[in-house]
Amino acid sequence: MGNLVLTCSLCGRPHPTSGKHQRCVACGEPLAVKYDLRGVPRPLPLHNLHEVLNLLLPFPEIPDDLSLGEGRTPLVRSRTLGHRLGIPDLWFKVEGVNPTGSFKDRGTLTGILRAKSLGLVRVGTVSTGNMGMSVAAYASRFGYKCLVMASVTAPEEKLISIAAYGAEIVRVMGDYGDLYFESLRLAKDLPLYMVNADDPFRIEGQKVIAYEIIAQLRRWPDAILVPVSSGGNISALIKAIEEMVTLLEHPHPPLIVGVQPRGCNPITSAFKAGRETVARFDRPSTVAKALVNPSPPSGNRVLRLIRRIGGMMVDVEDEDILKAQRDLAHSEGLWVQPDSATTVAALHALVRSGLIGDSACVVCVLTGHGLKDLTAVPLPPSNGKIREVDPHDLPSIVSEFCTS
Ligand SMILES: Cc1ncc(COP(=O)(O)O)c(C=O)c1O
Ligand SMILES: [Zn+2]
Repeated sequence: MGNLVLTCSLCGRPHPTSGKHQRCVACGEPLAVKYDLRGVPRPLPLHNLHEVLNLLLPFPEIPDDLSLGEGRTPLVRSRTLGHRLGIPDLWFKVEGVNPTGSFKDRGTLTGILRAKSLGLVRVGTVSTGNMGMSVAAYASRFGYKCLVMASVTAPEEKLISIAAYGAEIVRVMGDYGDLYFESLRLAKDLPLYMVNADDPFRIEGQKVIAYEIIAQLRRWPDAILVPVSSGGNISALIKAIEEMVTLLEHPHPPLIVGVQPRGCNPITSAFKAGRETVARFDRPSTVAKALVNPSPPSGNRVLRLIRRIGGMMVDVEDEDILKAQRDLAHSEGLWVQPDSATTVAALHALVRSGLIGDSACVVCVLTGHGLKDLTAVPLPPSNGKIREVDPHDLPSIVSEFCTS
């Protein structure tokens, strides 16, 4: 780790890389990994992602047997929604094909490698479900013990998967943010590393998604939309974009749009009100359960980063999220969790208001697979009933199907 330092994302205070520090001892804000970019070749050889990762990740040589094949997810061009919206250059980054079905896996690998580098063989995480699944899977891969503190909103599907990977799970009442800080406090003097959503070493793995998008497109998009909960993922995305703006000597970063559900939008409210800090959101209620984070641990950092890069935070209603989720499945063949569909719901609004124009190249990050949360979805057809029929009726059903 010679080429990197760990500094506070707000006050810049350096912290030793030999300890478990994740937040600043002076101001409490999240720490971030910084590299000495002077030795990195310019322009960055983006066509060779492997080389880029060697230059810009804390653990360049990742042993093959610890990887589960995370990342390098498809960037799929829209066939119908983009045309319907009047923006034909629309793309979807399909994160649901990661080993545990969400974007979390790249960061989990680097997060657990961090634990390994500290000589720790017990990891934990605070989770609305996806993170728990991801950390549980990789802990099993590493042969480490894993403790998942799941929020009460975590859907059954995810809890079952976490258990299948052999992790210990507890479901904890209360606010995700409180649980996050409590988990760091409890682990501080124990042989346990919390691989939480905005851990500085997790962020390094997660940022790779931005390199992938630009390498796959072979050009810069005009806008990238991403759902926001703790603020870890959008912090990672912006970090990578800022690194690339420097290393590719590209003057204009894309418009970065963070999306929250209106039923839990603490960062968007603070952004719209021009505040520098996030206030706790009271009584969250939304179908986007993975985004229920009333006091997001990286909320203040997101406000700083999004303003610095000239991006924006927006929010969307549940009915628009569900409509976008249906549209993606029906018209694009992409079955995503409601949380991921927030990006497409937001895109509709941004196009309507003229903030995204018809020639724009836009990427929506679809963070997780639809099978991970079935609670928000009515069975087809939309009245919730599937017909039960006698085998004798099949010939007429098939012939009707073929003539309708
Ligand atoms: C499917 C999905 N999308 C988006 C997010 C938001 O990511 P972050 O907490 O890093 O802001 C989460 C977080 O759990 C998630 O599970
Ligand atoms: Zn600080």
